[in-house]
Amino acid sequence: MQLAAPILFCIERHSPVNYIKEFTMPKLTVEGYGTFEVAKGKRLVLALAEEAGVDQLYACGGNCRCTTCRVEFVAGEPQQITQAEKDKLADKGLAGVCLSCRIQMNNDMHVRAVSRLEGSGRADAGSKPDAAIKPDPVWVAKT
Ligand code: FES
Repeated sequence: MQLAAPILFCIERHSPVNYIKEFTMPKLTVEGYGTFEVAKGKRLVLALAEEAGVDQLYACGGNCRCTTCRVEFVAGEPQQITQAEKDKLADKGLAGVCLSCRIQMNNDMHVRAVSRLEGSGRADAGSKPDAAIKPDPVWVAKT
């Protein structure tokens, strides 16, 4: 009788539904570019540049200082945000956009690339962001 709870936990944890949810690759749709499979947990800013081929700006190298990595969400916007992103968007008075360097691909997302090298007048997109979100993320509710 005492083993029932752990056994039920293991059965649920390793069910095909949970396995599929945990290990399938999220899809990134970028208007005008297409739909791409992306490794779960990958930074959105890198997925835009590497999988979707967007000339996405990331002037500060993905360190939540510049806001050039901003995107508009059509669907799949995460309900959690890093405190750093929340503070930066408030500082800049930006609404209706998200900072792709603060977002991990943990679900399907559909975005518009609204901050690209083309037309920016910049010499390059910036220093390529690291694989991990920096500074270390502190997750808070979006609202
Ligand atoms: S805020 Fe600079 S790359 Fe995201």
